[in-house]
Amino acid sequence: MRAPKCFLVISLVLRCSFSIASEGMWLPLLLEKLNEKEMKSLGMKISARDIYSINSGSLKDAVVSFGGFCTGGIISSKGLVLTNHHCGFDAIQNHSTLEHNYIRDGFWAKDYREELTNPGLYATFIIRIDDVTKAVLTGVTPAMTESERQSVIDKNISELRKNVKKETHQESFVRGFFEANQYYLFVTETYRDIRLVGAPPSSIGTFGKDTDNWIWPRHTGDFSMFRIYAGKDNKPAEYSAENVPYVPKRSLSISLDGVNENDFTMVFGFPGRTTEYLHSEAVKQIIEVNDPVKIAIRDKALAVIDGFMRKDEQIKIQYAEKYALISNAWKKWQGEILGLTRTNAVARKKMYEAEFQKRVNASPQWKTEYGTLLSDLQTAYDELKPYGLANDYYLEITGKIELFSIARRINTLRILKNNGGKFDYSAALTKTRDSLVVFYREFSPVVDRQLFEVLMEMYVKDQDSRVVSTKVLEELKAANNDFKKWTNDIYGGAELTAGNKILASLEQNPADFLEKIKDNRVIVLYADMVDAYNRNVAGKLNEIQNRINILQRTYMQAQMAVMKEKKFYPDANRTLRLTYGNVKGFNARDGVKYDHYTYLDGVMEKYIPGDYEFDVPEKIRKLYRNKDYGQYGKNGRLPVCFIATNHTTGGNSGSPALDGYGNLVGLNFDRAWEGTMSDINYDPSICRNIMVDIRYVLFIIDKYAEAGQLIKEMKLVHPKKK
Ligand code: ARG
Ligand code: GLU
Repeated sequence: MRAPKCFLVISLVLRCSFSIASEGMWLPLLLEKLNEKEMKSLGMKISARDIYSINSGSLKDAVVSFGGFCTGGIISSKGLVLTNHHCGFDAIQNHSTLEHNYIRDGFWAKDYREELTNPGLYATFIIRIDDVTKAVLTGVTPAMTESERQSVIDKNISELRKNVKKETHQESFVRGFFEANQYYLFVTETYRDIRLVGAPPSSIGTFGKDTDNWIWPRHTGDFSMFRIYAGKDNKPAEYSAENVPYVPKRSLSISLDGVNENDFTMVFGFPGRTTEYLHSEAVKQIIEVNDPVKIAIRDKALAVIDGFMRKDEQIKIQYAEKYALISNAWKKWQGEILGLTRTNAVARKKMYEAEFQKRVNASPQWKTEYGTLLSDLQTAYDELKPYGLANDYYLEITGKIELFSIARRINTLRILKNNGGKFDYSAALTKTRDSLVVFYREFSPVVDRQLFEVLMEMYVKDQDSRVVSTKVLEELKAANNDFKKWTNDIYGGAELTAGNKILASLEQNPADFLEKIKDNRVIVLYADMVDAYNRNVAGKLNEIQNRINILQRTYMQAQMAVMKEKKFYPDANRTLRLTYGNVKGFNARDGVKYDHYTYLDGVMEKYIPGDYEFDVPEKIRKLYRNKDYGQYGKNGRLPVCFIATNHTTGGNSGSPALDGYGNLVGLNFDRAWEGTMSDINYDPSICRNIMVDIRYVLFIIDKYAEAGQLIKEMKLVHPKKK
């Protein structure tokens, strides 16, 4: 156990903590320099080079970006990939029909031939990461304008990528870190023949659905399995029946021993976006302005959709995915406000800023360079506030009313027809048609009408009238300012809601249709809302945001110079990161302390026969009755999920969770609600990531699905019995 650490500056406001070490999403190539010592002191038994090395197969070679939105781990020498059920959901759904309902019943390929192809899905390996900061910033001077700076940087990057050492089938990209103060180059290898191998039924893979989403204690078997296929030379190849299972440089060994409280764990994956170095005013606005308005709009939207889903089986099927998507962020933002408030995030940021300012003022050079940074940021954020708010209203509301989404697709297509090249237009026409076919299948004009009425009232009444579209106000006035009447007028005559007709017109005579539809009432209305937004909000918003970006870049650089004792990690930006911590329960709120593990007993406690969220398959119930857990149980119980202090975010779904030896012990899929503010201000007292225990995954594959051939491919180990 480590001694409690209290940093001089921070200890005034932060509680002293045993696990300050848990914060951070670290670049794999810097682990040796920045983290190895600490990781070992926390319980890591391997070295930084076992995790990231460019010469021999290291753990990084067993981690892929799964389709660009999730993470996957390689778990066999035949290219088997483990990721979440919610990451594979789209693929599983695409293969589902009424006769073969893989979402409901699960899917298990008995051999290679039964594995299902997924056009568009890909898996990307990171071959190498180089620090290219010097080369990218060559020729950049402080006197340059932003656009001058950017064009020098773009030129340097394209030069770098031209000359990068890599094999012909490999690719490269360069990305900015620490607010574009540093740059790293990534050499990657992307496989595009990814086949579905197995998925449990949703009563296991999404057990608890939206009610349990973001919630600990959790009992979801959130996993699915895919296989990477390669050409005969093991290199990336487009789909072909001739392709063979990919032989990886490295695959993960799987531990059957699990982890105990306080054990070291690390999570390796592709976190999407965090903002850990904001000014206190920005955090204050998130808590008081932006999160609340987005939540309020979604409160209303969810209530409308839920009302229909409860009454109508058809709508329930159509809207389940949309509901889950809207409610996912809605729930996260509520946890974020709660956590930021409870941990006094704004006050803590202010203390930190006061210390920063004190140090800056004490040095003449810093004072000239950085003296007004904080007050400049404060001013810029004060200016941003109304535009940020209007932006949230606009995006949330126009994004929920689907009539506008139809208008947007048609408008975009028409603009392309008039201005774009012939090829662009005909490709876009096919794409729009295809997407509208899918769209209309999941569209109910009855639900949308209600959404329109409720949300347009917010758009008009809750906002400063200066940002509202005049066309909207005119139309409303003509309807005696009666939202119900106005809504009925619009939907009563709306051509756009008639999917069959729209699709037929786009099929038969698209050019003619696009010309005629441009005077359609909804198209005109929506165009005016877009225009009002562009004129009154977007221009100013971008201008202020650009100013903030420059200030933040300097502030980042200044913090790294001034707050010398602090260890900085770059914000998440969809690049490969490692985060580490310890398995640990937490105090959720007054009087409530959470354990670090859940068991199959808890699944049975939540079981509601026939329920949409909490049903349990009969076969699981039987295995439970017989305590038939095979080698996966522990003291007569079957572990299901666990939590730890690893610092993760969206995109880390499907990330392998590893023990101190680098063995797979779990699969990351969520965070605990109370600590979702870790995207803005990580706090080890309440921030926890949620993982499904690998033994539960294996139990489902082996005992439930009886897919022993998959278990045979894997390498199961007992590190604790060494
Ligand atoms: N909260 C998890 C993540 O952000 C899981 C989302 C999928 N599950 C759901 N019930 N919506 O993305
Ligand atoms: N479920 C998230 C994902 O899809 C991970 C949870 C989080 O935001 O940490 O990536």
